[in-house]
Amino acid sequence: MGMIPFLDLLSINQKYSQEFTQALSRVLDSGWVILGKEVENFEKEFAEFLGVSHCVGVANGLDALILSLRAFTEMGLMSEGDEVLVPANTYIATILAVLQAGLVPVLVEPNPQTYLMDGEHLQACTSPRTRAILPVHLYGRICPMAEIMEFAKRHDLLVLEDCAQSHGATLEDINSGCFGHAGAFSFYPGKNLGALGDGGAVVTNDREMSKVLRALRNYGSEKKYHNLYQGLNSRLDEVQAAFLRIKLKDLAMDNQKREEIAKEYREMIKHPRVILPQSGTVGEHVWHLFVVRTQKRDALQNHLMDAGVQSMVHYPIPPHRQQGYPQLHGLKLPVSERLHSEVLSLPIWPGMNQKQIDTVISAVNQWNG
Ligand SMILES: Cc1ncc(COP(=O)(O)O)c(C=O)c1O
Repeated sequence: MGMIPFLDLLSINQKYSQEFTQALSRVLDSGWVILGKEVENFEKEFAEFLGVSHCVGVANGLDALILSLRAFTEMGLMSEGDEVLVPANTYIATILAVLQAGLVPVLVEPNPQTYLMDGEHLQACTSPRTRAILPVHLYGRICPMAEIMEFAKRHDLLVLEDCAQSHGATLEDINSGCFGHAGAFSFYPGKNLGALGDGGAVVTNDREMSKVLRALRNYGSEKKYHNLYQGLNSRLDEVQAAFLRIKLKDLAMDNQKREEIAKEYREMIKHPRVILPQSGTVGEHVWHLFVVRTQKRDALQNHLMDAGVQSMVHYPIPPHRQQGYPQLHGLKLPVSERLHSEVLSLPIWPGMNQKQIDTVISAVNQWNG
């Protein structure tokens, strides 16, 4: 039997081959390839799916974060040098976006059970310069937003949600991205809603902010050759928007399939030295990644490889130990460091078959580590 890939993107996308081809022809025949009908329609459809007023398509998830923070600044809500509370355990994009926007990231230790930012650790990291919180719904699970929003209200802070891994996750019927002032999404191919290249979006209920974002993504102009701001060239591609409209129709179903696989893993994987992820309430976790923990992580990964199961580490090096981020070196973040040394992501994607699921389960259970 062949290796079970960590993620089978080919099988995820191949079933749309005909629809993608039709969508490409539609764009081609329209003669309009930048900021046209496909982007406009995708923005409407994604906003409707989430239950939010505005969606602005951008070039990728990193830009979605940068543009959101830039919009806060242009709107006079924050200024250069202000501090933003970010989780210490996140993909580097979250922290890079804060730095790129001229702001200061303050790294917050995660909850050791959920691996997410929570209300408990925010207080100690707050200073008179704190202006915003940037929770990341890591691995697909929504942060405890009630307590984060309550903290934000009490301290008069802005909240930008990083939803790059949480498309369609809901907490009490509210979608990730709709709790704070804005939500930033990535449509990188491997995400729960992924394009055939890069893509991203910002969602918000604030009309003024959506106007600023539309200008910022397009050289800071609302009207061609009139530059209100020093913006970016960060537009969602018309062809990618056309592809995303097709895949958006299946997002809820795909998330349901991920949920079923996760349920099976959680019920069937039984190993004294492997800690399974918590699911939260129904819908709270969309299982972008199924992340287990063990002290001998590398040994488990090697064992799985020998058993024909590919796994990955999200992420091997914590942001504050990355070479390119000297300003973060020296921070003491033991919880985050421990997680980085113990986490391992098992294969999970909507089209996984029963045999593949069973193989992953027995491979973990048979580990003699
Ligand atoms: C948590 C998080 N934030 C931001 C991003 C950035 O998205 P992109 O790769 O589309 O720039 C990613 C994914 O890559 C991510 O996982």
